[in-house]
Amino acid sequence: MNQVLINHKEIQIRLRELGEELARDYEGKNPVFLGVLNGSVIFLADLIREIPFSVEIDFIRAKSYSGTQSTGVVRIIKDTELDLTNRHVVLVEDIVDTGLTLRTLQEHIHLKRPASLEVATFLFKKIDMELRYKIKYVGFEIGNEFVVGYGLDFDGQYRNHPEILKLEP
Ligand code: IMP
Repeated sequence: MNQVLINHKEIQIRLRELGEELARDYEGKNPVFLGVLNGSVIFLADLIREIPFSVEIDFIRAKSYSGTQSTGVVRIIKDTELDLTNRHVVLVEDIVDTGLTLRTLQEHIHLKRPASLEVATFLFKKIDMELRYKIKYVGFEIGNEFVVGYGLDFDGQYRNHPEILKLEP
């Protein structure tokens, strides 16, 4: 049986808090929320609806994983279609694990010369705490366990589950 790690109510409460924080930080800045496909779609969709003013969204896609093992190689396979020059960008991730995907994406976006670049991740795996302090918006910190649901998958499955589940082998 898969165990519920973060339930629907906890997610809703945290989304509201993050939304308030982002609204305070980005009011009047016409931010771009750049979701990392596919995992961030549920988080991004819920998060931007907690923000009481208009924001732009776009998506970027990187590939780094097969099954539960990281391959250590990250490729950008779909880039943003917006001009990010002088824009305030919030990169929206489902989960930061080793941080490899994030580093690659941050370097890539920096080259586009945005006015600012911050990261919002729904989950952060507590592996590299130095990395934690570089991420401004974190939904939940979790242990080193494989989780699914709320956008996160295992071989393409479980993304639509509304809660975060700890996947049993
Ligand atoms: P990183 O490059 O090691 O930080 O890995 C980031 C990517 O790996 C995420 O965007 C996910 O696609 C995937 N990933 C890492 N941990 C998990 C997990 O526990 N469940 C599902 N996907 C994960």
